[in-house]
Amino acid sequence: MLEQAKWIMAPASIGTVPPEFTKTVTLHGKVKKAIAEVSALGNFEFTVNGARAGEDVLSPGWTSYSHRVQAESYDITRLLKDGENTFSIYVGNGWAVSDIGYRKTKNFVDHISAIAEIRVTFADGHTETFVTDESFSVWSGIVRASELYDGEEVDLTAAHECIGAAVIDTAKKPQIIPRVGEIVKEHERVAAKEFILTPKGERVIDFGQNLAGYPEIRIKGKRGERISLSCAEVLDKDGNFYTENYRFAKSKLTFTLDGEYDILKPKFDFFGYRYLRLDEAPEDIDLSAFTSIAVYSDMKRTGFFSCGEEKINRLYQNILWGQRSNFVDVPTDCPQRDERLGWLGDAQVFCRTASINYDTERFYRKWLGDMALDQKPDGALEGVVPSLKNLPIRVSAAWADAATVCPFEVYLAFGNRELLAEHFPMMKKWVDYMHAAGPEEFLWIGGEHFGDWLGMDAGFGTHMGATQPDLIASAFFAYSTELVVRAGHILGEDVTAYEALYRKVRAAFRAAFMKDGMPVMYTGNAGKEKARVIEEEGIKFEAVTQTTLALILKFRLCEENEREKLTTKLVEMIHDFDDRMTTGFVGTPYILHALTENGRTDVAYNLLFAEGVPSWLFSVEHGATTMWEHWDGIREDGTFWSSGMNSYNHYAYGAVYDWIYGVVLGITVPDDGAGYKKICVAPHPDRRLGFAEGGIESRHGRVSSSWHIFGDEIRYEISVPNGTEAEITLPGEAPVRVGGGTYLFVRPFH
Ligand code: BGC
Repeated sequence: MLEQAKWIMAPASIGTVPPEFTKTVTLHGKVKKAIAEVSALGNFEFTVNGARAGEDVLSPGWTSYSHRVQAESYDITRLLKDGENTFSIYVGNGWAVSDIGYRKTKNFVDHISAIAEIRVTFADGHTETFVTDESFSVWSGIVRASELYDGEEVDLTAAHECIGAAVIDTAKKPQIIPRVGEIVKEHERVAAKEFILTPKGERVIDFGQNLAGYPEIRIKGKRGERISLSCAEVLDKDGNFYTENYRFAKSKLTFTLDGEYDILKPKFDFFGYRYLRLDEAPEDIDLSAFTSIAVYSDMKRTGFFSCGEEKINRLYQNILWGQRSNFVDVPTDCPQRDERLGWLGDAQVFCRTASINYDTERFYRKWLGDMALDQKPDGALEGVVPSLKNLPIRVSAAWADAATVCPFEVYLAFGNRELLAEHFPMMKKWVDYMHAAGPEEFLWIGGEHFGDWLGMDAGFGTHMGATQPDLIASAFFAYSTELVVRAGHILGEDVTAYEALYRKVRAAFRAAFMKDGMPVMYTGNAGKEKARVIEEEGIKFEAVTQTTLALILKFRLCEENEREKLTTKLVEMIHDFDDRMTTGFVGTPYILHALTENGRTDVAYNLLFAEGVPSWLFSVEHGATTMWEHWDGIREDGTFWSSGMNSYNHYAYGAVYDWIYGVVLGITVPDDGAGYKKICVAPHPDRRLGFAEGGIESRHGRVSSSWHIFGDEIRYEISVPNGTEAEITLPGEAPVRVGGGTYLFVRPFH
């Protein structure tokens, strides 16, 4: 695509001001169809005669720009008129040119460039094509500065000034591909809730909802008057505006007004925030002038859930907002501070939940494509995708396993075999990397890992839990190998070598990390490659942790006759920690499942209902509207976890919804039922919840499961779409096979 067009850039004299590339053409005759294909390195807005060509924002989205960039395709027929027409590509630094990553460096290209081809077909059959070349002019306009982390400066009084002709950009460029992912667009519009005058005397607007997006301000001010805004997610314990957790990201928006009625919003950036501080603003500015707009990838909402406990309903809403905020074209860790990166660990733990809440297939298709391109020849994957040239990140277990987990989960959710087949080589390469890594063939010993990131059992305030990283790495080696085997069976591939590898890895794991059915410290060939961070933090690793037990149970690294003892130990450790968990990013997604699969759903429910630190409801109790990065992001006494790493919008712990969906409602998809062709429904009611109802609008139709407890009776209602097969298993009963329909079961409940 875009074969005839040339990449263009602005003359150097424009400096750091975002360039607008324009061309005015004269059209004669009736236009039958006009299509514009546009791309840029930098985030762009494409307009025809001043009107936006599409609903997309932040285009062309974020791909691994060292390899590829997407082009948008717009049908602009309706925007053209007889006579003169102006095409404009306005470009800000965006993901490609901004300084990003926590070192804030350029990672892809050092300047903005754009490319476009506009084909006009007239009613009489003749066509005219306009392409970017030196005939485009370059203008500086109202946007004076734009950086992804720092924000935007807009001056409505600035002259629209022609800088000169576009310059042909001969630098090496990525491959241009048609858009693969969903477009990013504006979604919910949140009205401002209240003006707050903080103890420091600052004027702050509270929208009542943390999100990723930007504010819109409708105002008629005086010419030259300024509105300057800063972002925050929380107020501190004294009620003051708190920005330290944004680290280097300035997250500021400044508008200079022109005296007309204006609708103000940034063009190329987005922010993560709930509160806005008015650093400068007309005294009489009204709250109703402000709206906060959620901006994220245009996925179809598919999941629904509610239950009889308000706090859990709030948690569910927070999980949804965590997803909306971190699905701005790439699955990110957080939307606010100087990261907003495609962290693999966060993404793999949340992938199943994400694909219940929304139809994520196109979204992940694009990101997985970038992952495959960023994978190194030896199979290694750094911590983030798209990976950053100037920010090398360690190849960590449970992070890089996104290479196996995400393609498999996306397959189960949507049943797209081609997508699984496309990424099967990436899955195998990742397992091959682990096979070759470290001094032991069938374990992954040494290396640099994030461990049980943010686990609480190595002491409060540490970044890593007490679970041995070698154990986590070797357990994930087994799990990823198992996923390759399962994927191979689905695809009809010969995976005998991986089956044999799986058996050896499992046996080696048991020999190295288990004795008499319980986990032990690794004493084998530890190599010299111990993770640096671990030594810096002086963490004392423990043989038996909640995360270790959860991984062994969940990944089936134990024998059947060892389950009871391991489960009893896990329950005991939970009990000893005030009936709470100590797990971090690695253990948390599995702990409730491990309990349920071993007959202790009651304890899993206890954890779901727990309210102190650490627990899911602690943040809910403390007014959270999204998921926090740390269990104790705000402590009991109102103080914060260190500003060094403290986001209030990290989706990872929202992965608990896959337990709520898969166990409370009981909906799961077996390997041979991908895309909800076959469905298992096995609800696990608990009186404390009163009722639960929810499900999914799957590709095959609506699947729902509900139960209501009335005194000593429970009523289950389960619906599966026509054309599917389901297996319903009620507590203590044998499975029943059914076809499409709605099924009601009334049972005694004690
Ligand atoms: C991110 C995490 C990420 C981690 C790696 C953090 O800075 O925000 O969510 O997974 O680094 O351990």
